[in-house]
Amino acid sequence: TTVALLFGGRSGEHGISCVTAGGILAAIDRERFEVVALGITREGRWVHVSADASDWTMVDGRTPEVDPGGDEVLLPEARHRPGERIMLRTVRDGRVQDLAEVDVVWPLLHGAYGEDGTVQGMLEMLDIPYVGSGVLASAAAMDKAATKLVLGTAGIDCAPGIVVHEDQWAAESHRVTTYLRDTHPLPWFVKPARAGSSLGVTRVSDQAQLDAAVKSAFAEDPKVLIEEGLDAREIECGVLQGRDGREPSTTLPGEVKVGADLDFYDYEAKYFGKGTVSIDVPAALPDAVLEEVRETALRAFRALGLEGLARVDMFVTRDHRVLVNEVNTMPGFTPYSMFPVLWESMGLSYADLIGELIETARG
Ligand code: DAL
Ligand code: MG
Repeated sequence: TTVALLFGGRSGEHGISCVTAGGILAAIDRERFEVVALGITREGRWVHVSADASDWTMVDGRTPEVDPGGDEVLLPEARHRPGERIMLRTVRDGRVQDLAEVDVVWPLLHGAYGEDGTVQGMLEMLDIPYVGSGVLASAAAMDKAATKLVLGTAGIDCAPGIVVHEDQWAAESHRVTTYLRDTHPLPWFVKPARAGSSLGVTRVSDQAQLDAAVKSAFAEDPKVLIEEGLDAREIECGVLQGRDGREPSTTLPGEVKVGADLDFYDYEAKYFGKGTVSIDVPAALPDAVLEEVRETALRAFRALGLEGLARVDMFVTRDHRVLVNEVNTMPGFTPYSMFPVLWESMGLSYADLIGELIETARG
């Protein structure tokens, strides 16, 4: 089987996607899989890049980047038949060359133009099997407001909050602030609807900070959520779809614990060692609550129509109410990331998890 790993991309999570690719390139079983590495530059150009894991690690606390200098990859034409292998070609010095025939693409991308159904739609058009969720599920899970609508309809609780739009903010901010003050106790979390890794997220502990927080979220997305910050623990659960339509299975939940030196689990805390963060697997919760968390993750997976894999991030309140925070269709995937760590704790090694996902890619 030849798998094309697609990483980098146009979103703010470009570097994180590259680090994730580095983890997979280091561990993937090369006797079982031929690997072709395809980078997408920040501008959106597809280039053939090194499949050597050491080229995709953090150096001096900086994430790697897809260098626009690589050979340009030509997208295949949507002319072959399903089941046929797909020939990828590159252009070097104006000459078209065959690169490799691939069986599966793994869009190892986070955020917009990667995790949001756009690349998935392109792969559907080209009839190329790929790892992970399809178009609608990817799009719905990328947009936190859409996720809440779908989950709410399925009777799954989410953090209470409202949605604001950039083109209406100037006219509405006063009314919205008054409404929030009267209905939602502080703190508030302001988040871009379609971003990841906490980019553009601010914790607002004073009403006077709201406008600046909303504007910094608008820098990521013109659609923004303002949520009530719950007094809750952050609990995450991995879901994997079984082969041949078997029931999806869940991991024991893990907990992200942030120290008092952090406002919340932000971008720097996630990837650059800011503040005190520890990961507890399994989370120290009563068995019945762990069960409910797993059940909620599974219900969310089904309600959104997800495929392949997902990490469902939840809140568990002091009185053990379980609410969904958000769903990631391509969660961070280095060997130290929560999703692989959760599966490792279930007895599925990182390399086997990678193999399982490629084997179950939808055709
Ligand atoms: N969006 C990041 C990669 C995550 O959810 O793990
Ligand atoms: Mg996330």
